[in-house]
Amino acid sequence: MCDGVELEAIASAEGTPLYVYSAALLRERFAALDEAFDGYPHALHYALKANSNLAIGRLLHRLGSAADANSIWEIEVARRMGFEPHQIVFTGVGKSPAELAQAVPLGLKAINVESAGELARIEAIAERLGQPARVAVRINPDIDAKSHPHISTGLKINKFGVPVDAARELFATLKGRPFLKLVAVHVHIGSQVTSLEPLRGAAQFVVAMAGELGRAGMQLEYVDVGGGLGISYDGVPVLDPREYVQAIVEAVRPTGLPIVIEPGRSIVGPAGALLARVIDLKPRNAISEFAVIDAGMTELMRPALYSAFHRIERVLESGAEPHDYEIVGPVCESSDVVGRDRSLAPLAMGDLLAIRDAGAYGAAMASNYNRRPLPAEVLVDNGQWDVVRRRQTVDDMLELELAAAPVTTL
Ligand SMILES: Cc1ncc(COP(=O)(O)O)c(C=O)c1O
Repeated sequence: MCDGVELEAIASAEGTPLYVYSAALLRERFAALDEAFDGYPHALHYALKANSNLAIGRLLHRLGSAADANSIWEIEVARRMGFEPHQIVFTGVGKSPAELAQAVPLGLKAINVESAGELARIEAIAERLGQPARVAVRINPDIDAKSHPHISTGLKINKFGVPVDAARELFATLKGRPFLKLVAVHVHIGSQVTSLEPLRGAAQFVVAMAGELGRAGMQLEYVDVGGGLGISYDGVPVLDPREYVQAIVEAVRPTGLPIVIEPGRSIVGPAGALLARVIDLKPRNAISEFAVIDAGMTELMRPALYSAFHRIERVLESGAEPHDYEIVGPVCESSDVVGRDRSLAPLAMGDLLAIRDAGAYGAAMASNYNRRPLPAEVLVDNGQWDVVRRRQTVDDMLELELAAAPVTTL
């Protein structure tokens, strides 16, 4: 069930693979973070990269969220969700000259700058416009987030942010640069961070930087401690959102500065499941079978990309003795394994499985590999469900190619 609606009914009506999101859980996850600030000034900038479905963005916007966009296209989508420029921070390690040319005139809350070169490019655009650009500098604090190496971003070896010493040199140049308005310092040390210490350390780091800047006569408007709060993928409790927020507030309170956080996964991850049906079964070894399902790395890339674990459950329970399965997708890559060595009551063709906690970095990372259409997405709210993204068709997929080349040349 999802919020009182039978998943089997949704899957029968809409087909599989299918993402299903719970509006109630989205609200609950947003409120848990928001309320934990307990009156301390803050803004939650939901990281659209985790899931930028319009319906989800609009729901979070209505709840009072702001947005973190990672490309000019996410900014465009954020605008269509209802976010105003002053509610958007523009993050991202590589912003092209064309993206900056479009972003600077918008007057965003901040462009989170990743290098001295990017800062100079923003300055040149702002000078041409005759309007100072609001910038935050993303500093690489050299803190180990202790997450998967592919999603750790706060170490010196990672491509993200400006190294601390270089940031100090950059700050020293700002007084003579009237077209740059430094509004914040920013850190984001990684994603799926499940221990408090690195996150607390990152907050303490921005506080120290804000202090240095203050003493140098540069007063910030806020500090941005990024996203990264992890979720439990295996059901074992991890860091509680309240504990995380309280640690950050405690670190920042002495500065009195408002806090920006950029949570993605912790809001939307647990609120989504990917539904898939068994489409083949075949022997694997003496004790286990392959269960081929109609969702794989094209719909949910995380297991293939980072060996990520997602719980996989039968939607209709069975009391039968469990059996061992390697649950694999239909894509022609051996890495397309959705769940290794899983124990489930015996499966049959057509059985429906729910791949849990797939709301973040699931649909957002889906691809058309093997010409597989992007899956449909459904939002369940208050006992009702709506398709919030229809399933892609081959016509949708080919439209761009047909538009680019007349059929006769194909
Ligand atoms: C700059 C920035 N902010 C926020 C996020 C969101 O992170 P998470 O989904 O782990 O909260 C990311 C993603 O890694 C990011 O790169």
